[in-house]
Amino acid sequence: MSNVTSSFEEISKIEQAALQKVSQAQSTKELYDFKVEFLGKNGSFSGLMKFMKDLSPEDKPKFGQRVNEAKNRLEEAFTAQNQKLAQKEISERLAQEKIDVTLPGVTRSKGSPHPITMVIDEIVQILSRVGYSVRLGPLIEKDFYNFEALNVPEDHPARDMQDTFYIDKTHVLRTQTSPIQIRTMQAEKPPLRVVGPGSVFRCDSDISHAPQFHQIEGLCIDKKVSMSELKATLTYFTREFFGNTDIKTRLRPSFFPFTEPSAEFDSQCPFCSGKGCRMCKQSGWIELGGCGLVHPNVLRAAGLNPDEWQGFAFGFGIERMAIIKYGVEDIRLFAQNDIRFLEQFL
Ligand code: DAH
Repeated sequence: MSNVTSSFEEISKIEQAALQKVSQAQSTKELYDFKVEFLGKNGSFSGLMKFMKDLSPEDKPKFGQRVNEAKNRLEEAFTAQNQKLAQKEISERLAQEKIDVTLPGVTRSKGSPHPITMVIDEIVQILSRVGYSVRLGPLIEKDFYNFEALNVPEDHPARDMQDTFYIDKTHVLRTQTSPIQIRTMQAEKPPLRVVGPGSVFRCDSDISHAPQFHQIEGLCIDKKVSMSELKATLTYFTREFFGNTDIKTRLRPSFFPFTEPSAEFDSQCPFCSGKGCRMCKQSGWIELGGCGLVHPNVLRAAGLNPDEWQGFAFGFGIERMAIIKYGVEDIRLFAQNDIRFLEQFL
């Protein structure tokens, strides 16, 4: 058998094998692999070139032509089969991706600030409109700032009143935001109007007390301040906070070591407008916080001359404000991070 006959037979063999594989391909991927197997750089057709060297000069072009014809037929078969398979694959994918436009949409949950953060932001907003700006202080506080400078000397019963977490002999987890008053007076020149929000800590836990809660402190220092100015500020604040311009407020005499005179600040109950309800225990009033004129000892401890400067201060519990504003019954809910509770404040 001449070289040319056997090489032609080889071409036919490969062509037959290739056409059969192409017609049996199950996917475009499989088809592509076959294409590489036969027509690729190292594929079967490239392998045929080894016959070339043994062919006579007049057989070489015949052989080349025959290879090209086979390749062309194969290319055509590939293209046709590829079209068929691609169409099949697209319709299968589309069947899977079919969308039922009558199905209800998937709701996406959206984050929002914690209710305590919302209340702090709102209080800061309201007071910033009458000239107050925010100051912060450390949570681990020196005994000096938390007690001493606030006119609460060692062995003073007020230290027991606030069940204190001690870090060491001279450091506590701050039991109140009042130390922010001292730090601000030390660091800045009066006149001052500042609010200090933040976490405070007391060794206490039940339905109305949590070991960690939040307060906001207010401090105004000027040449001359008065109880009536204090009351006007707190009344403005209360009316803005509860969104009720008719709400009445009152001061009741009280005691705090760092203010003289001291008072509790009450608002008419925003739930019943003073008629008496469960929220205000039928009294028509709810207590919002403490306040008073800054004690001369406190001014002195912070480096101010009480003959030159006067001040008023106030402090609210944030959880308490949130409870009143949103009608929440249990203070512990604010710290439990139960999404069903938090979602209600969106
Ligand atoms: N620090 C007080 C407390 O924790 C609240 C308070 C009362 C703050 C009177 C004040 C104030 O600034 O003047 O209970």
